[in-house]
Amino acid sequence: MKTRSLSIFGLIVLALLIGLSACTDPREGYAPEQPIAFSHELHAGVNEIPCKYCHVSPGEGRHSSVPSVNTCMNCHSQVPGNTPEGKEDIKKIKKAWETGEPIEWVKVHDMPDLVVFSHQPHIMAGLDCAECHGQVNTMDVVSTQNEFNMGWCVDCHRQPENNAPIDCTTCHY
Ligand code: HEC
Ligand code: HEC
Ligand code: HEC
Ligand code: HEC
Ligand code: HEC
Repeated sequence: MKTRSLSIFGLIVLALLIGLSACTDPREGYAPEQPIAFSHELHAGVNEIPCKYCHVSPGEGRHSSVPSVNTCMNCHSQVPGNTPEGKEDIKKIKKAWETGEPIEWVKVHDMPDLVVFSHQPHIMAGLDCAECHGQVNTMDVVSTQNEFNMGWCVDCHRQPENNAPIDCTTCHY
């Protein structure tokens, strides 16, 4: 049993060393094209819709999920859009609502499966969305504002005032 766990530890260290090179891809600034040109600047900024109106209770679950078509329709059954492109996009929302087909949003942030992340302890600790995601309410297109790699997580956990654990099992199964 002892040797078994030792060799697993060895494998982890090896994977870590090999992984370091693979981890250096630039994740910061990643902003994939979306099926509908949804603007946070227009919704969360100009129209001051609170983050939690759309990202329901990010503190309570493992995920802070992206809103469903129903949430959009709360307003867009009435609000037609301003620009020609915007009007076309809102027609797409209505069509998705009628057919029941979800809008296939492309994930901007996507942690590998080996990582345990939950919004809950972070929101409970009083962190603001902007500390990790930047000023999303000024973004026409959302992009990743930090590296979202292990060093970034651990650096913040190490700050004495955060008092957050840094042992491997905090973030890995
Ligand atoms: C505070 C959270 C946190 C802690 C603590 C942590 N890790 Fe990680 N670890 C991550 C994240 C996030 C990634 C994903 C990095 C990426 O995708 O860029 C990662 C990735 C890894 C990887 C894969 C590297 C790769 O190529 O993606 C290994 C191996 C790893 N960690 C081992 C460890 C070991 C061993 C410890 C304890 C010494 C540890 N981790 C502690 C968050 C953490
Ligand atoms: C009117 C609804 C709405 C509001 C309000 C809103 N969002 Fe979003 N959010 C979305 C939609 C739709 C997406 C998916 C499309 C995209 O990425 O632009 C999204 C995506 C995101 C993402 C990227 C998700 C991923 O795939 O990784 C983050 C981070 C985010 N929102 C944070 C915020 C923050 C922070 C606020 C408040 C300042 C906010 N949102 C307000 C609807 C909203
Ligand atoms: C709380 C109300 C509200 C919600 C919820 C809402 N919107 Fe909007 N949306 C607006 C307003 C206000 C405008 C400004 C355009 C207007 O006045 O016609 C707008 C405009 C738009 C536009 C057009 C922009 C343009 O250039 O004309 C798109 C596309 C859009 N919203 C998509 C979405 C999507 C997708 C969702 C759901 C994830 C959503 N909206 C949820 C209020 C809302
Ligand atoms: C401690 C840093 C941190 C804070 C604070 C934070 N987030 Fe996140 N957020 C992340 C990470 C890391 C991911 C990627 C999770 C994954 O891929 O599993 C993420 C992903 C998301 C996503 C994509 C959907 C998902 O959960 O995978 C949305 C939407 C989001 N965050 C919204 C918010 C909102 C809204 C707030 C504020 C109420 C917030 N976040 C606060 C780090 C944070
Ligand atoms: C901006 C600072 C910050 C960043 C960035 C951050 N964290 Fe945290 N994390 C905290 C704080 C503060 C806590 C709460 C500590 C407490 O009070 O228990 C916490 C708690 C956690 C917990 C729960 C620990 C426990 O058992 O109580 C996990 C798991 C976690 N973080 C994973 C991550 C991962 C994975 C990342 C990177 C993707 C990350 N964190 C990035 C500040 C941060």
